[in-house]
Amino acid sequence: MTQPQTTTDAIAVALLGGGTVGSQVARILTEDADMLAAKAGAPLRLAGVAVRSKDRKRDVELPKDLYTTDAESLIDGADIVIELMGGIEPARTLIEQALRDGKAVVTGNKALLAQHGEELSAIAAEHGAQLSFEAAVAGAIPILRPLRDSLSGDRVTRVMGIANGTTNFILDRMDTAGADFADALAEAQELGYAEADPTADVEGHDAAAKVAILATLAFGADYSIDEVSCEGITQITAADSAAAADAGYVIKLLGIAERRTAEDGTEGAVLRVHPTMVPREHPLAAVRGAYNAVYVEAENAGELMFYGPGAGGPETASAVMGDVVSVAERLVRGGPARVRTSTSSLTALPAAEAHTSVMVVLTVDDAPGVLRRVAAVFEDHGVSIEALRQDSAAAEAEGAAQLRVVTHHARQRDLDATVEALRGLDVVRGVVSVVRVEGK
Ligand code: NDP
Ligand code: HSE
Repeated sequence: MTQPQTTTDAIAVALLGGGTVGSQVARILTEDADMLAAKAGAPLRLAGVAVRSKDRKRDVELPKDLYTTDAESLIDGADIVIELMGGIEPARTLIEQALRDGKAVVTGNKALLAQHGEELSAIAAEHGAQLSFEAAVAGAIPILRPLRDSLSGDRVTRVMGIANGTTNFILDRMDTAGADFADALAEAQELGYAEADPTADVEGHDAAAKVAILATLAFGADYSIDEVSCEGITQITAADSAAAADAGYVIKLLGIAERRTAEDGTEGAVLRVHPTMVPREHPLAAVRGAYNAVYVEAENAGELMFYGPGAGGPETASAVMGDVVSVAERLVRGGPARVRTSTSSLTALPAAEAHTSVMVVLTVDDAPGVLRRVAAVFEDHGVSIEALRQDSAAAEAEGAAQLRVVTHHARQRDLDATVEALRGLDVVRGVVSVVRVEGK
């Protein structure tokens, strides 16, 4: 194990990645060198920036000789390694190399952490190296440190929020400007919010990775992205957005991690990401553009909300630099690295154990007794109806009506069975949409 040395010499920083976020980290390291040195207790020296192509035109002007394609050699000469390349390989191998050398690593790579976080934390612990990743969840918002430190004397019961800026930007444009999905996505890419492969954003994988990381810190057990049930926003149409607005809701892509007791009595956590209708007056409905917001519920603290820019170069670089200064301070002061260990074994439960409510829109026969038969299906599955509206004009078919049913909270398994039974009911001509509702 490498013991950190106390130093006031310049601390060498290797930057892996000089894209949207990396270029802004390089800018801060050079422009704000004096402020950073004062805070860290020693100067931070940018040793180099590893990129794929040294000739590419960059947003931030740096001396040409700082760029390299040899990330491994750059790591060899560094005290702190900042990984902002993204993706699994070569990021994973390079981070492992740095941690095995006892170097501090700062990363914003949620895809990697949500898949290999447990093994990387174990390598860090074994080699006395620190792995920090505040930037990996919700961009500039300080959310991981509060979960790990400030709330460590409490029991977190639920974390719920908007954790992907790209999809919030798209849904917001669809809601407020009736924008087309593809145009809104192109705009988010242009602004640097989207992942290199924006499928990760729109299919919900990026939010799911963040839910796995949030749950790991909130509940003290290790979760991977495979344990998060995930639905993205690609099926959401402008018509869905308009229907939600008509009912007094706005559609958001929510990530939720909550403690639950399964039907068989197992204590666990349900982790999920899906498009969700939120009442217009709920604070999450007011989260616009690429902003993020994370709600935390804890037994003693009650309800807390963290809000701010969830993506973007300078915004994310701010979170990265917070970790870098904190690690540099420790290198100056000396003392052991802060390593993360599991504190519970709260198992991940299937999504069917979640408690939620839904709005179901049905096209039904407009005839006597139909409402009674539809209501009976909900009753048979133990699902209570909170609101019901019939609209004959909206069905746009001869002898048909549209029914909009909002349920009370019920187990996801019972809600799914209800919808399945409705599909088989002879008076139901079709299930138009089923969207979950939270925050009522
Ligand atoms: P970009 O795609 O803009 O930049 C990636 C950088 O890494 C580029 O400079 C690229 O080089 C370099 N790179 C990629 N692969 C390699 C490789 N194999 N060898 C050497 N260099 C490589 O990504 P972002 O800056 O947007 O994101 C970086 C990380 O931060 C990701 O993990 C992302 O999920 C995370 N993040 C991003 C946020 C955002 O708002 N953009 C917010 C929060 C986290 P080259 O320039 O030559 O192509
Ligand atoms: N693509 C991510 C988002 C970047 O849109 O939120 C921030 O993690």
